[in-house]
Amino acid sequence: MRVSRIAGAACLAGMTSMLAACGGGQSTLRPESDAARDIATLWWIVLTVSVVVFGVVLGLVVFGVLRARGAEPARGEPLFARGLIVIGGVAVPMVVLVALFVLTLRTLPSTSPARGKTELTVEVVGRQWFWDIHYLGRGVTTANEVHIPARTPVELRARSLDVIHSFWLPRLNRKIDMIPGRTNSILLNADEPGVYRGQCAEFCGLQHAKMAFLVVVEEPNAFRRWLERQAEPSRAGSRGARVFLASGCGSCHSIRGTTARGRVGPDLSHLASRRTLAAGTIPNDRGSLAAWIIDPQHFKHGSKMPGFDLAGDLGALLDYLEGLR
Ligand code: CUA
Repeated sequence: MRVSRIAGAACLAGMTSMLAACGGGQSTLRPESDAARDIATLWWIVLTVSVVVFGVVLGLVVFGVLRARGAEPARGEPLFARGLIVIGGVAVPMVVLVALFVLTLRTLPSTSPARGKTELTVEVVGRQWFWDIHYLGRGVTTANEVHIPARTPVELRARSLDVIHSFWLPRLNRKIDMIPGRTNSILLNADEPGVYRGQCAEFCGLQHAKMAFLVVVEEPNAFRRWLERQAEPSRAGSRGARVFLASGCGSCHSIRGTTARGRVGPDLSHLASRRTLAAGTIPNDRGSLAAWIIDPQHFKHGSKMPGFDLAGDLGALLDYLEGLR
C-alpha cells in the first residue's frame, strides 16, 4: 500500500514537472511561426497515434493476463494467432511508421529557407559557450541576442568554431545542429514582435546549460533602425575606453571603432543594447556587469574569461561599457 502510494506520488511529481516544461517562453507547443506550427501539429499527431497504440497494446496485455488465469494452456487456433501476429506485429506497425515518416518528411520543407526567398541572412556561430552573430552583407557583428524583423523570411545559417552545438528556438523552428566545418540553415519567419528564448540543445561541455540566447522580433521599421545603430562604430576616447585597452580586454573582445579586435570572446561593440550577459546567464545591468568582470568564473566556471581586479578603474570601465548602446 505504502509502496504504491510512493510510486503514485513519484509519478505525479514527474508528470507535473513534464507539464510545467510545456509552458513558458520556450515551448514548442506555443508556436509563433508557420514552421513551428507545422512541428506542433506533427507533435500532436504523433502523440495521438502513440497513445492509441500504447492503449491497444496495454489492453491486449491485460486481456492476455486475465485470460491466462487458471485456464488450460492454449491449444489450437494457430491460424488466428498467426494472423494476429502478422497484422498486429508487422502490418499495422509498418503502416503507422511509414505514415508518420511521410508526415515528418512533408513537415521538413516549411522549416527550411527556400533559395532566393529570404530577405536577410544571419549567421550564428556556436562557441564554448556563447553565440557569435553576423548579419551577412550588413557589416554587423553582435553576440547572444539575434534581432529579426517580424513577418519577414530570414535565413539563419548555423556554424561552429569548436565542438558541436545546436541552435534551438522552440517557438519559431526546429533544432539545427552546428557542426564544425559545415553550414546548416533554417528559416526564421516570426508572426509577431516579441522576445523569444532559445537554448543550445547539444551537450557541448561544462557550461552547455548556460548557453542560452534571445531572439528579439521587431516591426520591420524598428529592426531597420536597430541594424543601422549596430552598424555604427562605437564611441572611444574616454577614460573607460583606455582602461579597457590597457587591461588587455581587446585581445579577446572586439569593439568596432577601437583597436580592440580580439576574437576569443563575444563582440562588445554595442554591449549595452543587449538584455543579458554571458549568453543569458545574468541580466545586463551595472551590478551584474561589475560582478562578472571581477569574477566571471563564479557565474560560468570554465569559461575563457579571467577575473579582473581593476580597483579604482572599475567605475570608469563600467561607465564606458554601459555607454556602448
Ligand atoms: Cu553549446 Cu551546448
